[in-house]
Amino acid sequence: MQESINGMKRTSMCAELGEANVGEQVTLMGWCHKCRDMGGLIFITLRDRTGEIQLVVTPESSEEVKTKAASVRSEYVLAIRGDVQLRSAPNDKMKTGKIEVAVTELRIVSESETPPFYIEEDDTANEQLRLKYRYLDLRRPNMQRNLMLRHKIAKASRDYFDEAGFIEIETPMLGLSTPEGARDYLVPSRVKNGSFFALPQSPQLYKQLLMLAGYDRYVQIAKCFRDEDLRADRQPEFTQVDLEMSFVDCDDVMNVTEGFVSRVFKDALGIDIQLPLRRITWQEAMDRYGSDKPDLRFDIELKDISDVASKIDFVVFKSALEAGGTVRAVCVPGGAKFTRKEIDALGEVCKTYKAKGMAWLVPSSEPRGSFLKFLTPDDIAAIKDAMGASEEDLICIVADKKKVVWDALGNLRIAAANKLGLIKDGDFKLCWVTEFPMFEYSEEEGRYMAMHHPFTCPMDEDLDNLESDQGNVRSKAYDIVLNGCELGGGSIRIHDRALQMRIFKLLGFTEETAQEQFGFLLDAFKYGVPPHGGLAIGLDRFVMLLTGAGSIREVIAFPKVQNSSDLMTEAPQPVALKQLEELGIQVAKSSEEEDIDNLVMD
Ligand code: AMO
Repeated sequence: MQESINGMKRTSMCAELGEANVGEQVTLMGWCHKCRDMGGLIFITLRDRTGEIQLVVTPESSEEVKTKAASVRSEYVLAIRGDVQLRSAPNDKMKTGKIEVAVTELRIVSESETPPFYIEEDDTANEQLRLKYRYLDLRRPNMQRNLMLRHKIAKASRDYFDEAGFIEIETPMLGLSTPEGARDYLVPSRVKNGSFFALPQSPQLYKQLLMLAGYDRYVQIAKCFRDEDLRADRQPEFTQVDLEMSFVDCDDVMNVTEGFVSRVFKDALGIDIQLPLRRITWQEAMDRYGSDKPDLRFDIELKDISDVASKIDFVVFKSALEAGGTVRAVCVPGGAKFTRKEIDALGEVCKTYKAKGMAWLVPSSEPRGSFLKFLTPDDIAAIKDAMGASEEDLICIVADKKKVVWDALGNLRIAAANKLGLIKDGDFKLCWVTEFPMFEYSEEEGRYMAMHHPFTCPMDEDLDNLESDQGNVRSKAYDIVLNGCELGGGSIRIHDRALQMRIFKLLGFTEETAQEQFGFLLDAFKYGVPPHGGLAIGLDRFVMLLTGAGSIREVIAFPKVQNSSDLMTEAPQPVALKQLEELGIQVAKSSEEEDIDNLVMD
């Protein structure tokens, strides 16, 4: 039986009612969360976007209401009319727990099959199933809270930037495929067979051209697409709060961004953020935290003990130093109490990040450690001293190339902090990381690549060393980091055509290839370019961090899984031969069916 709602107009949302409404007649519409027939009394919990309320059908209700109520099952859609009354047995756990609605009219608007999982606060169902039936999963109160907070943050963004004189301009989804960056999603052209659009990895070039066009302060809540490996904080399509400003330097962009971030914290969570945010150079971040996105919620830091290590007769240290590497360590406070198994687990973390191993030492009066036989009492005292360690601490040491040591110890400090419970829920630590290297050497490509993107401006102090010392050139790039996660990043751009050509050349482009790939930009640069810079904040990541969700998927209505597919629609799928013919495309090799069992593992 499916009834219409004709003649009924919703007067209230379920959880917006309270004691003040007692005595009123209301009309509610929503889903049956639970139905309990107590023989004579029937209780139905009705749910809508705002929450839940108890409906009650009593022996005194009309026969029609009683009969219909007896047939109601979970997830049926109901429209009811009734009177708000105080509950004889209030429920403290429910927002509307003091009241209930005595039903005088009940319509079953839509029936439901038994859902594949129970719609409840906690996500006890397995994530594959939740994503396959995402429309049911999205009915869960915590998913609704996440998406509503996301809306609030998007609204705060628009309000803030509007008040700060920015205008929102949409940029195309169908654009040009450009080199550098991640892999593009391509869209074949029907009109020009053999040619492809690319979905934007970000609106980067368009927003720079908008500055050139005189728009001065641009903002956009922009969809971006990158065909890269997924992680807990990465999706192939995601959203940026993207901005660009003319006639500015780093400080201007950073100040506007700080204002934005603190506005979001205030509007979304009611939290006041202390401004200005701490600034750390990239070099300091790597040296102290082993990461360009340092988690500052706890104090464990890396220390360079190469000097001390060079005096120790231990081949692991010696060979790393001789090969131009480094020996660094972290001191885990109170780590002396860890079992061998627990220490080995920290060693495994280092190995995951390509370290060959981890040497450890407990510098107590009866020292313990993995390389004690190579240490004199003086060596132990020297290491203890260099680390500022106490007898209760555990010193974890990695000797390798700088990058490996940073990575291994940077991750080890997080693992140790988690283990020691040093990271408190609801603690938010923001900072800027500045002065990023301009270039990064790629072993895979056998050349230097742009660390941010090729339009990033080098620091004035390093301009003279561009060609002579490429590896040490710093850029006017900055990332904003929240709790160890890169929330956003940006830079001051190059606005001088000659400098842009110099950078392209260092990235391996010739005059011709640069013209071929970025011709429209280089041409535009002939016509009066204002100095400009900007930044993009990852909206999904921001919402994820503010909600405390463990994955970005929890704050995206319809996310993709590990192999970039959508478990609900089962996209992507092969298409009809006719569609391919129109596009002039022949498929050379179709992929094998994939085992979908582990697709949501991070
Ligand atoms: P960048 O590539 O650093 O900069 O991206 C900016 C921010 O976007 C978020 N982000 C992602 N979020 C989810 N899934 C992904 N796959 C993903 N990739 C990036 C991150 C990141 O900090 N055009 C430049 C910005 C600029 O220079 O103005 C850009 O896109 O939070």
